Amino acid sequence: IKTAEAADGRYVWTEIEHGVDETHHVAPGHTADILIRWGDPIFADSPEFDPMKQTAAAQARQFGYNNDFLGYVGLPFGSDNPDNGLLCVNHEYTSEEVMFPGIGRQDNKGFPDMTAELVDIEMAAHGGSVIEVKREGEKWSVVKDSQYNRRITANTTYMELTGPAAGHDRLKTSVDQNGTTCIGTFNNCAGGITPWGTYLMAEENFHGYFGGAVDGHPEERNYKRYGVPGGWYAWSKYHKRFDINAEPNEANRFGWVVEVDAMDPTSTPKKRTAMGRFKHEGAEPIVNGDGRVVVYMGDDQRFDYVYKFVSERRYNPDDRAANMDILDDGTLFVARFNEDGKLDWLPLIYGSGPLTAENGFHSQADVVIEARIAADLLGATPMDRPEDIDPNPQTNKVYVMLTNNSKRKADAVDAANPRGPNDFGQIVEMVPPNGDHDALQYTWDLLVVAGDPSKPEVGAKYHQATSENGWFGSPDNCTVDAAGRLWISTDQGSGWSKTGNADGLYGLETEGEMRGYSKMFFRTPIGAELCGPRFTPDVKSLFLAVQHPATDGTKDFPGFERNSTFEDPATRWPDFTEGMPPRPSVVVVRKDDGGEIGT
Ligand code: FEO
Ligand code: CA
Ligand code: CA
Ligand code: CA
Repeated sequence: IKTAEAADGRYVWTEIEHGVDETHHVAPGHTADILIRWGDPIFADSPEFDPMKQTAAAQARQFGYNNDFLGYVGLPFGSDNPDNGLLCVNHEYTSEEVMFPGIGRQDNKGFPDMTAELVDIEMAAHGGSVIEVKREGEKWSVVKDSQYNRRITANTTYMELTGPAAGHDRLKTSVDQNGTTCIGTFNNCAGGITPWGTYLMAEENFHGYFGGAVDGHPEERNYKRYGVPGGWYAWSKYHKRFDINAEPNEANRFGWVVEVDAMDPTSTPKKRTAMGRFKHEGAEPIVNGDGRVVVYMGDDQRFDYVYKFVSERRYNPDDRAANMDILDDGTLFVARFNEDGKLDWLPLIYGSGPLTAENGFHSQADVVIEARIAADLLGATPMDRPEDIDPNPQTNKVYVMLTNNSKRKADAVDAANPRGPNDFGQIVEMVPPNGDHDALQYTWDLLVVAGDPSKPEVGAKYHQATSENGWFGSPDNCTVDAAGRLWISTDQGSGWSKTGNADGLYGLETEGEMRGYSKMFFRTPIGAELCGPRFTPDVKSLFLAVQHPATDGTKDFPGFERNSTFEDPATRWPDFTEGMPPRPSVVVVRKDDGGEIGT
């Protein structure tokens, strides 16, 4: 038996300890700086942030809320420059109780105290930011007068609907009678960066923004399967398009992957309907050996599915323009994980198998709009909340984060989802044969079963050298650095007290004798989750998105024991200034000796 000290292999930093407190922690020998916070100006003319004088107009010129996905595109395009590039950032959702005075926590009950003015501010706080960032000496900063900077919001006009559902009757609304032009994007969770320098924003929990009554609705089957209307926000009270009875098709215009040309802030974002409509967690592409582009995608809900999209056309590294609409044509597949360690990719093609008029499918448009129902009929494996999925380009193995599933019953487990209820999640490794991401059959294995491995009743599985600080609960995002190392970030939600540990970042060995060895690197402040891990190409800088500090599970925070509010948050990270609310922020980590992170 090797000891942790002897066996660190590729993960050689001094591990930090599990715990929860008001601030962040990073492994010794590294420094974590705050790069940008909610409300910070991102243009030369942006107003300074004033939490007591928020306006929608100001927010649309400032960094948005709840940073999630982080992508990096080196400048100039194609250069792999590690010191200057575009950071593409999703702003997934808003946390009203700590954003605005006097709102208080409503637990997704539509925030009845929200005014029209506050709703417009939160709509401007959603979407994404593209910002030029630059390292000078040890410090990174945002280039505010960059020609590339851009804010995308829930009100961005216009976005184009492309692919097989574009122009279909089910996408037409009173303001878009062509069914091809829609307004804005929201609940963009993880995402991806393509080799041709576009930014993929995955629309996740879009159902939460709609209100109205679904019984007897023309889209009743569809909307019930997707949880529309979720009624989490007050948007439908002030904007008719979010009322499913006033505008019956608007909710069909969300739940897509949005492609944005990161290099052109005037470009029209495109919703790629060929990639299916579901609660997209992320969209990480890889170029297959034959040049086709394969994008792995999770549908983050209990008992939903793992998908991949395979483009019809081949990526052309010498002709950027030729790649710009490659994601419009191709095949969407859903995964069935068999008990024997094999997995089948089942194609979602109109007319094949059960995807016919008999089951309500009259075209490929119907198939992609109701991708979940098509996948149900094909017999896909219901998973424990598939979140981020990343391929490792060096090994061609693919890692699926399955975050948890409180609703899985003990008598309804399977080999890929082995626990019920599942409080802590697991990571599935998918292996394409000979690295062929276009193959119809892969093999798969469990890389880790998460939770505390010292408690037999938890049923966790790690490499035995993993320390008492090295295991985690609820893997959510992941990334592979240029050295081929896998990194995992966690989102335990209000369940963090089940581990007694805040969310954070872990290195996780995938290869060799130390496979399944996990080690803690970074910890968030109370109430936050960690998103977006992204390394620069030289592995010397690591961008991390600390999302919703002071919100999740603060009732269980010793010495605080109540829900956070704007007036009384569990932490005022990262400013720690009286009157300044906690702020979701992007952190950038470097090694103090200038070397590669985690070495
Ligand atoms: Fe937005 Fe599935 O986390
Ligand atoms: Ca996520
Ligand atoms: Ca990722
Ligand atoms: Ca999350």
